[in-house]
Amino acid sequence: MKVRTPLAAAALEPDEGGRYGVYGGRYAPETLMAPLEELSRAYDKLRRKRTFQRRLNHLLEHYVGRPTPLYFAEGLTEHLGGARIYLKREDLLHTGAHKINNALGQVLLAKEMGKTRIIAETGAGQHGVATATAAALLGLDCVVYMGEEDMRRQRLNVYRMQLLGAEVAAVDAGSRTLKDAINEAFRDWVASFADTHYVLGTVTGPEPYPRMVRQFHSVIGSEARRQLRRLAGTPDPDVAVACVGGGSNAMGLFSAFLGQPDVLLVGVEAGGRGPELGDHAARFSGGTLGVLHGARTLVLQDEEGQVVGTHSVSAGLDYPAVGPEHVFLHDQGQIEFTSATDQEAIEGFHLLSATEGILPALESAHAIAEVTRRAPGMDGDQVILVNLSGRGDKDVESVLEYDAASGDQVPVRRPSGGDSVSVRRPSGRHSGSGAGDAE
Ligand SMILES: Cc1ncc(COP(=O)(O)O)c(C=O)c1O
Repeated sequence: MKVRTPLAAAALEPDEGGRYGVYGGRYAPETLMAPLEELSRAYDKLRRKRTFQRRLNHLLEHYVGRPTPLYFAEGLTEHLGGARIYLKREDLLHTGAHKINNALGQVLLAKEMGKTRIIAETGAGQHGVATATAAALLGLDCVVYMGEEDMRRQRLNVYRMQLLGAEVAAVDAGSRTLKDAINEAFRDWVASFADTHYVLGTVTGPEPYPRMVRQFHSVIGSEARRQLRRLAGTPDPDVAVACVGGGSNAMGLFSAFLGQPDVLLVGVEAGGRGPELGDHAARFSGGTLGVLHGARTLVLQDEEGQVVGTHSVSAGLDYPAVGPEHVFLHDQGQIEFTSATDQEAIEGFHLLSATEGILPALESAHAIAEVTRRAPGMDGDQVILVNLSGRGDKDVESVLEYDAASGDQVPVRRPSGGDSVSVRRPSGRHSGSGAGDAE
């Protein structure tokens, strides 16, 4: 097992300009410099204010459902053989994903700043639902920008946002996905910052977003460490795995283990249909240094610097750039990045459903796919910690479409011995035996 080099203390916080080494920073239009500075100052003041922290913690506990359980996935562990697998159950949070940790923190901050209107972007819809929820709770107007392609594949979440009183603004530019929704949200903010706060949904964007979003999610990792100590007898897993879209759930989990040289941190990107540029969203294998949405980071772009289209079966990972701190920590040897294809994620989805009775979000299913590759080669006394960033209800239609299109269906008996149903059997070396088999 690879052991990381110890982390320099300076790597834990960006510099004053929001830079992580050569990454990050604040690349924004002139008009947004003052609102970003205002946000940065307000955040630094409020995060130290006891009343703000008390209110946020109270809501996280009583409204959002923290702490989330850490669950020993015995069925999956037995099925794969090897390392013991623990799931951090962010899927059990109110609204169904980790996104609410950050959305609630930022909406509370906006309210303290005297803003009356909230805007957000969304890809999978989870950040939009979380923001619409927080805005409804705190009585603020809310507009969520969403690409038309994402609205099609996540229509349940579109209606959820509307039920929560938010306006969902359809974006028909570009690839009609997350990148285009962020463009539109920034465009809105340039004209509306006087009364509006932009709740950016991941650890990218101009300073202070990356550090602020990471901080609101750091509760994931700090809880997991405490819980692992109790459940597994050690606070530190051998491997911690999380999927990486912009990188917020991963940074929330990993932040507790930075500086622990024996914990291998693994981020899993969307490998999509394959390695051709345009077929995936794996920035660490196809990306080059560029600036997107206010941050200097790895971007999937062509030789002229034009951002290229991306593809992933999961809307939440379908984004051409990654949070700048991830790139910095990767350069430092702190985080290893890999990817899982659409097919592997779909298999991960089925595997967790069959072995544990948990339908994961397709984003989280990428992390499960990585676990299926790693766990069998590890010892039975080793521990893998996986961030189950969200639940899969929103993705059932996408999985159904994918399975129907590939036609590889097998009859699976219901445990009660009732009628047969057709689902895709997880293929590859882990299918055919153990708890994952329903026959
Ligand atoms: C459930 C879930 N997991 C992961 C992600 C990816 O985002 P991030 O990398 O910021 O955690 C999303 C994004 O929408 C999501 O909905």
